[in-house]
Amino acid sequence: MDKLRIVGGHRLSGRVEVSGAKNASLPAMAASLLTDQTLKLDNVPAVWDTSTMRRLLGELGAQLPRAPRDDPHRLEITVPSVRSFEAPYELVKTMRASVLVLGPLLARHGRARVSLPGGCAIGARPIDLHLSALEKLGATVRIEHGFVDVQSDGLRGTEIYFDNVTVTGTENVLMAACLAKGETVLENCAHEPEVVDLAHLLGRMGAHIQGAGTGTIRVSGVERLEGATHTVIPDRIEAGTFLVAGAIAGDEIDIIRCDPSHLSALLEKLSEIGVETRVADKSVRVKGGVRLRATNVRTLPYPGFPTDMQAQLMTLLTQAEGTSLVAETIFENRFMHVAELNRMGAHVRLDGRTAVVTGPTPLSGARVMATDLRASACLVLAGLAADGQTLIDRVYHLDRGYERLEVKLASLGAEIERLASG
Ligand code: UD1
Repeated sequence: MDKLRIVGGHRLSGRVEVSGAKNASLPAMAASLLTDQTLKLDNVPAVWDTSTMRRLLGELGAQLPRAPRDDPHRLEITVPSVRSFEAPYELVKTMRASVLVLGPLLARHGRARVSLPGGCAIGARPIDLHLSALEKLGATVRIEHGFVDVQSDGLRGTEIYFDNVTVTGTENVLMAACLAKGETVLENCAHEPEVVDLAHLLGRMGAHIQGAGTGTIRVSGVERLEGATHTVIPDRIEAGTFLVAGAIAGDEIDIIRCDPSHLSALLEKLSEIGVETRVADKSVRVKGGVRLRATNVRTLPYPGFPTDMQAQLMTLLTQAEGTSLVAETIFENRFMHVAELNRMGAHVRLDGRTAVVTGPTPLSGARVMATDLRASACLVLAGLAADGQTLIDRVYHLDRGYERLEVKLASLGAEIERLASG
């Protein structure tokens, strides 16, 4: 297993380019199952999760020629016919978002069998809301032998209210509703930019969708969808991670090819902490080296503060003066990074679903273990700010969602290298 070695204390400066959003690419790729024509996607990040989705689509019958040499982020997918209805355990266990094939497979092919994802490091994460919505559209749902099997001989539009805001749940049901007969009204939908990006793609494929980005989405079902070309939005979590890197270890960094309008909650928090940022059309400049102040933060569905930035912001708060409260309201077990941050010298105490961070405390390099995707990013950020060497184990978590993070940080002046397993 690869490790990352970081020697902290170097000031970062320069420009860094943000990749396409992993969480927008995965549903976009799954949408290829809705048509027998070709989907051309641009700005797909080269990360493990998108390769896992490629493998899954390949097993289901998709043709996926290699990306052109001059553009590794272009992906063409054609699913002339479905070879298998099953998302196997081996793939779903490495990537829960595999569940995104459920809605499209059901809608176009009348059947899908997906291994139940079960728990994961950050919480139980059930898919009950996906399933009850698909049932309302007319599917029969059976759970046996660790698989969920959904079948239908024709979905019918209806009204669906999500009891809880769910991002992939909204996406799954939105895709299914595009090919349902009549109108579907989805209430209490996720407002995330990734949902809006999916709706744009589906619109290009011929779907009739209104209201994406609000709580109510209306879909008028169509008989069939066509191929389309679509550019995936920039990754707001990667951009946010660089913003924190700039705040904690930067002189001045320009984060380019991002969408600042997706970063409002984070930019607001950075301003409360005392970090200076300057927003332009598709970039943000962040200045480090300032005195940081404690603040309180609560993770919420978009446009609230993203749970996927909670761990990274906590690293920054260890360097802020005073006591900060970090409340996690989305996932019940998303504080695995706290113990590792404390091993590096942070003072973070857990009180139920709130972390109490007292700062500033100098961080010192240590051997630490990545436990999930965003926790890994928070340890990298801690390593940049720490005195001496940090060795991060289980970097595969990071590789699921960040494209060449160490190469990008090294280009800004960080001393960071990947130690490949032999
Ligand atoms: C997506 C993102 C993930 C992000 C999360 C929250 C992708 C591929 N992943 O995950 O990076 O951290 O949104 O912003 O886009 N829930 C249920 N029943 C369900 C579905 C969800 O109880 O059927 C609960 C979950 O356990 C969680 C909350 O709802 O507590 C939100 O989860 P959800 O928005 O579904 O997360 P994902 O879509 O899996």
